[in-house]
Amino acid sequence: MRHDTIAVIDFGGQYAHLIANKVRRLHVYAEIRQPEDPIEMFRACKGIIISGSPSFSAFGEDSGYTKAIYDLPIPIVGFCFGHQEIAKHYGGKIVHGGKEWGHTDLHVCADSPIFKGLGKIEQVWMSHFDTVTEIGPDFEEIGWSQLGADGDVHRFAAIASDKLKRYGFQYHPEVDDTVNGETMIANFVLNICGCKPTWTMGNFVDEEVRKIRERVGGQSVFLLASGGIDSTVCAVLLGKALGPERLHLLHVDNGLMRKDESRGVVERFKKMGLGANLHFVDASEDFLEALKGVVEPEKKRLIIGNTFIKVFEREARKLGIEKHLLGQGTIYPDTIETGGTKRADTIKTHHNRVPLVEDMIAKGRVIEPLVDLYKVEVRELGELLGLDHDLVWKHPFPGPGLGVRLLCGTGTPDTAEFERIIPEVKKAAGKFGVEAEVLPFRSVGVKADLRAYEHPVLLSADKPWEKILETAGTIFRDVYGVNRCIWNLAGGTPKTFEPLPATVTRERLDLLREADALVMDGMRRHGIYGDIWQCPTVLVPLRVDGKGREFVIVRPIHSERAMTARPARFPEALIADLKRQILALPGVSGLALDVTSKPPGTIEWE
Ligand code: XMP
Repeated sequence: MRHDTIAVIDFGGQYAHLIANKVRRLHVYAEIRQPEDPIEMFRACKGIIISGSPSFSAFGEDSGYTKAIYDLPIPIVGFCFGHQEIAKHYGGKIVHGGKEWGHTDLHVCADSPIFKGLGKIEQVWMSHFDTVTEIGPDFEEIGWSQLGADGDVHRFAAIASDKLKRYGFQYHPEVDDTVNGETMIANFVLNICGCKPTWTMGNFVDEEVRKIRERVGGQSVFLLASGGIDSTVCAVLLGKALGPERLHLLHVDNGLMRKDESRGVVERFKKMGLGANLHFVDASEDFLEALKGVVEPEKKRLIIGNTFIKVFEREARKLGIEKHLLGQGTIYPDTIETGGTKRADTIKTHHNRVPLVEDMIAKGRVIEPLVDLYKVEVRELGELLGLDHDLVWKHPFPGPGLGVRLLCGTGTPDTAEFERIIPEVKKAAGKFGVEAEVLPFRSVGVKADLRAYEHPVLLSADKPWEKILETAGTIFRDVYGVNRCIWNLAGGTPKTFEPLPATVTRERLDLLREADALVMDGMRRHGIYGDIWQCPTVLVPLRVDGKGREFVIVRPIHSERAMTARPARFPEALIADLKRQILALPGVSGLALDVTSKPPGTIEWE
C-alpha cells in the first residue's frame, strides 16, 4: 500500500524530528529530507514542512537548498526559519532583530483553514532572532503575537496564501508548549494537503514483514538482542517474517549491564518462545580489556560499539552461522544524535552507529526494521505484537549500558575554566540563597543543537524543589560553561572536591550496579517507576571533603521522545531511603539529584 507522505525538510534544528513525529501521530507517514535533496524526491509527497534552523534567514544563510520545491503544486508550510524562507521567497522582507523567546500569545486575525477549530488567542512557543517585516502580494497576515497585554506587538507571526497553499508560522507548533500546535499541524496535513491517515502500526507490521522477507531472501538474521524494548520488538517482528529457523538471537553480557539483567533477559526470551536459536555469551572480559585505561567518553562509546561487532563475528564463526545479516534494534533517534544528517552535530556516537557497523551497512550486511521509528511507535508496535506491558514500558537503557554512566578521569582538574566560572556561578546562585560549587570535571550535554562538554554545579540548600529549579535555570542562563546542576542530598555544604584518576573496572561497575539497583527498586516500591521516563544512576570518581572516592548522581527525568527532558521530582520518602542506602555503600563520597533539563544536559551522563 502506498501511503500519503509529508516531507519534513530538516535544516538542522533537533525539532525537525518532533515535526515528523507529530505528523506520524496523525497516522500519516512523514519522512525527513535534506534541504539539498533532488526535486524528484519531493514530487510524490502530498505536502512539505520546512523546519527551523540555527541559520539566520536575514543574512541569507543556508539559502542554497532545492528552491524548485516552491514550483511544485503541493502545499508547503514553514516553521520559524522555514516561515521566514517562505515569506522571503514570495517577496517579503526579513530583518535580524525582533527576537522572541518562550511562551507568547498568538492573536488570530483572519480566517484560515490552517487555524480551523482554534480560538482567537492561542498560546504558542517562540525561539527566534530574525523576523518577517513585510509579506509578498499573494500573502495575508493571519496572526500576530504579543507577550501579555502591554508587550510589544510582533507582526506576521502567522502568514498564509490560500491561493498558493503556502503558510508560515514564526512559532514552533511541533513543541508541546504550543498548546494547540497539533491541531494546526493536523489542519495542514489532513485538510490542506488532504492526506489519508493510513499509516497505522497494523499496516506497518504487514509491510515490514514483506520487506524483511524480500531483503533477507535465502539468508538468515543474527540479531544482537540486549533485551530492551527495541531489540525485543525487533526479534518478534523478524521471527514473524522469517520463522524461528532463520532467526538467531545473540545476547551479549558486556559486563556493563544492570544487576542480574542478563539472566532475566535470557529467561524472558525463552518464555516468549524465542529460545530456539538463542545464544548467550559472557563477553565481559573482552569489553573490560578493550576499555582498559580509557577515559574519554566518546572513545569509550567507539570501543564498546566495535567490541560488540567483534564478539558478534566471533560467535557467528563459532556457531557456524553463515550467510547471515546482522540484525539491530536501532531506532530513529540513535542515528540522529550520532550526526546522522549533514547538519546535525555529533552529540554522541550510539553503539549501533560506530564505524565498524557503518562499514557493514555500506556493504548491505545489516537489517534494522525499526530504524524509521521513534520510541513511542516502538512501544505501540510492542503492544500490538502482544508483548508484556512491563517490557513495553520498561525504562530505556543505552546499548553501551553502565559504560557511559561510569565517568572516568585522569585526576587533574581543569582549573583555567574554574577561575572564570566560579564567581559567576556563586553570584547567580547567591540571589536565591543557595550555596553553589563548580565541580572539577566535565560531562557531555547539548546546547543549541551542539555537543557541550562542560562543568556541573553542585547546589546545596534546604529549599523547595521549585527554588532549586529556578536557581539552576538562572545559572544556565547567566553562566557560559555550565551544562548541569545537581542538588546535594548528603546534607551540609561540601567544600572540597578532588578528582581521582579512574577508568572502567569491574569493581567500579559493581558499585554502580548496586547503587542503580537501589534506585530502580526504590522507584518501584514508591510506585513512581511508571511515571518516570528513565533514571540513570551515575558514578563520578570524586573525593569530597577528603572522604570517599565515588560520587553518586541520580537523574530521574520526564520525557516524551528523549529529544528533550525535564527533571522529575522524587518523593521525600524515596529520597530518605536513597540517602540511607546509597551513602552507606563502601567508598561513596556523596549523593546528588540531577535537576537539569535537556537541553542543556543530555539524559545520560558521560
Ligand atoms: P541522551 O543522553 O542523548 O539520550 O539524552 C537520549 C536517549 O538515548 C539513549 N541512549 C542510547 N541508546 N544506544 C542506545 O540504544 C546508545 O548508544 C545510547 N546513548 C544514549 C538514552 O538512554 C536516552 O534514552
